[in-house]
Amino acid sequence: MAFRAGVVVLFALVCILTFATSANNNRPIIGVLTQPTSVKYHPNNIEQQYITASYIKFVEMSGARAVHIPFDAPKEELKRLFNGVNGLLYTGGMLDMKNGTQYFDNGLYLYSLALEANAKGDYFPIWGTCQGFQLFHVFAAELLDENIMMEHFDSWDISYPLVFDVANTKRSRMFGPDSGVTDAILHDFATRPLTMNFHHLGVSRETYKKYPAADAFFRILSTNKDRQGKEFISIVEAKNYPIYGVQFHPEWPLFEWDSSSDVNHSQESIRANSYFSSFFVNECRKNNHKFRTIKEEREALIYNYSPVSTELTAGDVQTYYWDLL
Ligand SMILES: *[C@@H]1O[C@H](CO)[C@@H](O)[C@H](O)[C@H]1NC(C)=O
Ligand SMILES: *[C@@H]1O[C@H](CO)[C@@H](O)[C@H](O)[C@H]1NC(C)=O
Repeated sequence: MAFRAGVVVLFALVCILTFATSANNNRPIIGVLTQPTSVKYHPNNIEQQYITASYIKFVEMSGARAVHIPFDAPKEELKRLFNGVNGLLYTGGMLDMKNGTQYFDNGLYLYSLALEANAKGDYFPIWGTCQGFQLFHVFAAELLDENIMMEHFDSWDISYPLVFDVANTKRSRMFGPDSGVTDAILHDFATRPLTMNFHHLGVSRETYKKYPAADAFFRILSTNKDRQGKEFISIVEAKNYPIYGVQFHPEWPLFEWDSSSDVNHSQESIRANSYFSSFFVNECRKNNHKFRTIKEEREALIYNYSPVSTELTAGDVQTYYWDLL
């Protein structure tokens, strides 16, 4: 009985989150967290911060503008930017994520602001890709070091069809009846190798058993098996918050051209991977944060910076926003 009541309360809460908000902000701005780079990757051999340009295009392609959030900004500045943007995106990357590093600590600070905002009825979506997906799990499990939680997988540079958890996807925000996803997209994801995986670490259903706080927080929407047949979780959404994570890289098929990688640029792949951008940007239309002045907004936009292309492999380039000061 107590359990039934709990379920009803939970369901009511989810309904509030899902239906009490409408997508009425037609000028959404999304904050994208920068990260430190090593001199090795920088064109001028200097230590700086960057965002891979594909993440900026990923938010722009569905009708949002982007603002970079410096990973090393002071707390007051992070708060100012948080109050100006309608959602946050945590990118992929190669950081060692633990307490005491600026990326982790400030990433956690922003994540906590998002939880707090949502709890007060200020609908604030956040999205994590790959490293971002992993980081959200570390936060949800209330850990301070990804090395405690992450498991190893053999899933670097490989495209997979998704194995949907059908019961969960049907009642999810991401793929449920109100999501706008089409049967064709779901069908293509389920039957064709369209999701681009670039990870050595990840989380499994076993990880969720070990960390009940993560299990209570997230709903698993899809899984995959790595080259050794070991299952990892590939898409999650938080049960009671507009927080979303994908272990793979939807921005890769859309915008990355490394010809030595197993990227699928087919029409179905572009259509399907675009869906994640469209879904997330629409979630951000439900938030009404605003910069205090138009001048503040203009100064924050990524349009003030120029992307730089650097050689990746023979003939192929990858484009970055470097030196985001
Ligand atoms: C986080 O890390 C710093 C140093 O890196 C340490 O002093 C601090 O105690 C840590 N905090 C927790 C809660 O473990
Ligand atoms: C890419 O996706 C298409 C479907 O759109 C599929 O037919 C094809 O096999 C995939 N190609 C590769 C190399 O995985």
